[in-house]
Amino acid sequence: MAKHSDTYVCQSCGAVYGKWAGRCEACGEWNTIELEASEAGPPGSLSGGTKSKANKLDFTTLSGSTKEAPRLLTGNNEFDRACGGGLVPGSAILIGGEPGVGKSTLLLQIASGLSKGGASVAYISGEEAPAQIRLRAKRLGVEQSPVHLASATSLRDILATLKAEKPDAVIIDSIQTLWSDALPAAPGTVTQVRACAQELVRFAKSSGCILILVGHVTKDGQIAGPRVVEHMVDAVMYFESEQGRDFRILRAVKNRFGAAHEIGVFEMAGDGLREVANPSELFLTGGDAAVSGAAVFAGIEGTRPVLVEIQALVSPSSLASPRRAVVGWDGARLSMLLAVLDARAGLDFGRNDVFLNVAGGLRIAEPAADLAAAAALCSSLFDSPLPRDRVVFGEVALSGAVRPVNQTEARLKEAKKLGFSGALAPAGAQSGTIKVAEAETLADLVRWARNP
Ligand code: TYD
Ligand code: MG
Repeated sequence: MAKHSDTYVCQSCGAVYGKWAGRCEACGEWNTIELEASEAGPPGSLSGGTKSKANKLDFTTLSGSTKEAPRLLTGNNEFDRACGGGLVPGSAILIGGEPGVGKSTLLLQIASGLSKGGASVAYISGEEAPAQIRLRAKRLGVEQSPVHLASATSLRDILATLKAEKPDAVIIDSIQTLWSDALPAAPGTVTQVRACAQELVRFAKSSGCILILVGHVTKDGQIAGPRVVEHMVDAVMYFESEQGRDFRILRAVKNRFGAAHEIGVFEMAGDGLREVANPSELFLTGGDAAVSGAAVFAGIEGTRPVLVEIQALVSPSSLASPRRAVVGWDGARLSMLLAVLDARAGLDFGRNDVFLNVAGGLRIAEPAADLAAAAALCSSLFDSPLPRDRVVFGEVALSGAVRPVNQTEARLKEAKKLGFSGALAPAGAQSGTIKVAEAETLADLVRWARNP
């Protein structure tokens, strides 16, 4: 019989149950639910905290003055931007990514940058021996940086060291390798990862040390084990790459100290990750000959405008239910767009296979991409190339109306900067930067695509 206090936790997603089950209702995984030992004691006991009596809280006001510690710059502009303009002392950041994407490489470069700026940085690896890290440092050309390097997995040892050394920043590579001897669970389990992350975050908050945690990502894109760690930290970033490509995108999905969806773009080279200062150049395919089915979308990633080519291919299908495939965009959004084009503009895609691709491997989440995707689809359907010197953006409503989107000015400015001479945009987007053709409804878009 299970005791009342026992809880069962899914080791894959962290869902909590009162009794054991073979399959987790929350994430659908089999055999992942395990008994979580209740003898761990209250939080704080893992690092030897003592029982303390309750203290009365001192309430304060919103208007009180707080002296704001300056952000620490790593000297890597793409990384600093993705963090919201440098690292905030006392903050905790989780960086997730698939094995081999370059997390350790990036963080070693960041550690080197911080230490060169005069900060004391500890790099603690639970996965590699110092010799291996030294080899990588040599390859990156950062072996002279005064980074404090250690290889360890015991939370107790790590915390004791950090409390004694008091570094300005600590990098833990990775959180899944840490374990606390106060818990019976194996390293890498939800229980261990959650407890270790909690203790480290507590240390960061109380000491003002910047904490950067590396987390592995499972095949379905979640940070392995505990989603709970995402709630504990101040910022969650994903380091992503497209199969077979050299560039990497660091994307902030949560940031208490900056804009979410901010991106930093890097290129993996023989000597480490290089910053890509102008990502639009990466996502525009160039090529002088105009082909049908390509439209340039003027997008915003975080606070930064990024131009990217959207490609569509519409071709007669031999299948009873034609194929729909999307790379870099939302499949449901494509279905919706096709339905609206059918219902409001009378375009029939029903007997065609439809493929949509965002060039360069970028993933777009903005509704503002609707109009550009629709333009690419129309262009392919009519087999009529769109002018290569125009950008397109706007949100498409179910009614077929084209809605205005945010940051119009920034989108147009970026287009002008990159040599575009015109735009198709929602009504009211006139700004004087470049020539704007206005689209109020999908009918305007169809007319433009037929006769641009
Ligand atoms: P790594 O940082 O070890 O990845 P992670 O920590 O996310 O698992 O990077 C591993 C890959 O990066 C590896 O396939 C080799 C490649 N790489 C380069 O192309 N250039 C370099 O300078 C370095 C250090 C790695
Ligand atoms: Mg690594």
